[in-house]
Amino acid sequence: MSTTSPLLWSTEGRPEQMGDGDEPTLRGIELSRSFGDGETRVTALDHVTLDLYGGQISLLMGPSGSGKSTLLAVLSGLLRPDSGRVIALGTDLWALPEREQEAFRLRHCGFIFQGYNLFPALTARQQLEMVLRWGQGASGREARRKSEEMLTLLGMARKSHLRPVEMSGGEKQRVAIGRALMKNPDFCFADEPTSALDWAHGEQVVELLRTAAHERGATILVVAHDARIIPYADRVFHLEDGRLKEEDVEDQGTKIKERV
Ligand SMILES: Nc1ncnc2c1ncn2[C@@H]1O[C@H](COP(=O)(O)OP(=O)(O)OP(=O)(O)O)[C@@H](O)[C@H]1O
Ligand SMILES: [Mg+2]
Repeated sequence: MSTTSPLLWSTEGRPEQMGDGDEPTLRGIELSRSFGDGETRVTALDHVTLDLYGGQISLLMGPSGSGKSTLLAVLSGLLRPDSGRVIALGTDLWALPEREQEAFRLRHCGFIFQGYNLFPALTARQQLEMVLRWGQGASGREARRKSEEMLTLLGMARKSHLRPVEMSGGEKQRVAIGRALMKNPDFCFADEPTSALDWAHGEQVVELLRTAAHERGATILVVAHDARIIPYADRVFHLEDGRLKEEDVEDQGTKIKERV
């Protein structure tokens, strides 16, 4: 299946710093984060350091409770670490005033959350249109055209009028993915984006994320348990008890060759 669309993956407006592969676009340096006090204290991240690059899709794996969602939240500016730094496109993210952090997230980041976070009152198409209309000032007609194109890519064209309460879990998940990718973000953080999908739809979603990385130079970080995603990843990280290790994907001999 071809998921390529010149319209959706245009490189217009792409910051010069990203995607050239030399400099990391996102750096996590000695990140630590704990929750609770005393006996109930949990160390979710324990001095985690990683460099991510534009044009790559990185996979973050690890057992439940190992700190994956916490790491995503810290790297994406949603959860302040206890110590350590995040450098995003050369900016020290956690040193910015809150308002500028928000502006950075709005401008550069797409999120796919574990719980979808869709707006109950909006249809599938409206959830996507909103990103372009209010985030980027697109005209109603343009927002509609691009939203319909994205829903078609996600196999949701005939469901564009449904509201979240009328959608299945997998359909909600696909809308959340479409919404995250609509604005061609420099960074996409996806927490279990295929957990509610059968493999045919899951593979389609991973292909979309790969396209965003490989054709647009986006930096993609995906949390997933499903080992079938490994061959699609450029890099694989493993988190256990808050400690991060990178695995050697080339050694596994399963990596899917570039098709584009
Ligand atoms: N807001 C919070 N308050 C207290 N503890 C928390 C909070 N958020 C996370 N934790 C704890 O931190 C640890 C890491 O949680 P996290 O959600 O990052 O794990 P995860 O790897 O994403 O797990 P899963 O695969 O189940 O989603 C867990 O022990 C969790 O209970
Ligand atoms: Mg999680």
